[in-house]
Amino acid sequence: MAESKNIALDASPDKLISKTYLSRAVEPFEIAALEALLTSCRHNNGQEQVTGALLYHGGYFMQLIEGFDEAVERTYARIVSDSRHEIISVLFEDHISARFFPDWSMGFRTSEGADAASIEAIYETASRSAARFPINDFLLLFGNDGD
Ligand SMILES: Cc1cc2nc3c(=O)[nH]c(=O)nc-3n(C[C@H](O)[C@H](O)[C@H](O)COP(=O)(O)O)c2cc1C
Repeated sequence: MAESKNIALDASPDKLISKTYLSRAVEPFEIAALEALLTSCRHNNGQEQVTGALLYHGGYFMQLIEGFDEAVERTYARIVSDSRHEIISVLFEDHISARFFPDWSMGFRTSEGADAASIEAIYETASRSAARFPINDFLLLFGNDGD
């Protein structure tokens, strides 16, 4: 069969990139606003085959997005142009050989029910220097289930 559409899209890992940024909400997000945000993110990301994880803590977001380079750049452009927050810095951006969050169109955590001290430590380090961003600690926060 000559049918080759949509087969093994992740077979070109050299085109996969991951980007993580830190931003400040202009106004604190209530839970309903966060839920609406997630619904729209998951819808868009599903269409773009973008996956990742979003953390909200004390008025600050930290988000990892990953996927094919052009899709990630389009998604990041949407994120930057959302006037409900202001980007503070890009903490990590690089080619990756495999996705960190292959199953999540956007995993989500708040500091509620999580280890607030470890979240605080990640934000502290990230806000001081992008070069010291502890990506492993960020990934660990999300454990195995993203919802
Ligand atoms: C903290 C934050 C995270 C966001 N993450 C995403 C995202 O992962 N994917 C995306 O397409 N847009 C993201 N956005 C952008 C908004 O969702 C954007 O306003 C929305 O995509 C507009 O699309 P709509 O046409 O569905 O309203 C994010 C915005 C904020 C403030």
